[in-house]
Amino acid sequence: MMTVKLTQKKAAGQSDNGGSSRGMMRRVNALSLNPTAISARLTAQSIAIWQLVVKPVVTSTNDIVRDYDAKGEGHGVAVMAEEQTRGRGRRGRIWHSPAGANLYCSSGWHFSGPVEALSGLSLSVGAMVAEAAMEVCGADLQLKWPNDLYAGDQKVGGVLIEMLGARDNAQSAVIGIGLNVSMSADDGALIDRPWTDLATASGQDIDRNELASAVLNQLAEGLVQIDQQGCVPWLNLWRRRDYLKGRSIVIDGSPPVAGIAAGVSDSGALLIETESGRQEVSGGEASVLEMGALR
Ligand code: BTN
Repeated sequence: MMTVKLTQKKAAGQSDNGGSSRGMMRRVNALSLNPTAISARLTAQSIAIWQLVVKPVVTSTNDIVRDYDAKGEGHGVAVMAEEQTRGRGRRGRIWHSPAGANLYCSSGWHFSGPVEALSGLSLSVGAMVAEAAMEVCGADLQLKWPNDLYAGDQKVGGVLIEMLGARDNAQSAVIGIGLNVSMSADDGALIDRPWTDLATASGQDIDRNELASAVLNQLAEGLVQIDQQGCVPWLNLWRRRDYLKGRSIVIDGSPPVAGIAAGVSDSGALLIETESGRQEVSGGEASVLEMGALR
């Protein structure tokens, strides 16, 4: 039986322009990340699974999980940090990680089964994180292939999965999650694409400890389900929040692929209706073509 949990949305409070309050004043997160406060909201399943580690400053929370994995302690470690000095995103990008503003979280997981069964993992994790974030802040989030979280037309988070290879009949993975929570315009000034944060998107202050607990609870439930049932139930949830579907897009590459986005396959590939028929794209960056402009 599928047990993917659907969120009951709180009052949606998506901002009209995604930036009305951002930058006018700095939203301060009064509460630091606090292991006790995070643990207090964990489900019994989460408590049984996660070894929670909260650090003030790291290079990248993914690096810390890699260190745990190298010691044989990767499965079930969940690392959060107030700040990352070398936060990384997909395709070699920098993930801007100012102190005290956002959620930077990486988890270690050892999946049973073949690596091919995990081709939809990053989309599935995106769907889990969207569920958790919507539960906490009430904003209506969408998912942009392959693993961006969007509020309106602006990026609010992303997922970076690093596969560490097979060991003891298990696929070892680092699951990195970045969510903009309340970032000042100054802190986000170097981000080279439209972005927002959950506080702006929902119109309310966000308790990062509550958000962290919700993410860990959803991951615990979802990753166990993926081990048992594969990614398809989560891809079905992803499909309901597909930001690109029906839009005119182009995928970078040589040659670029242009057409109308038509959902995702059961392996997480993007389906595109092109002039020469339907194509499946497994990697690359999708840009929306609107009135001749790329977004
Ligand atoms: C992307 O959209 O490009 C993925 C961004 C992933 C960022 C998170 S923050 C926590 C973890 N540590 C990192 O260095 N990256 C991921």
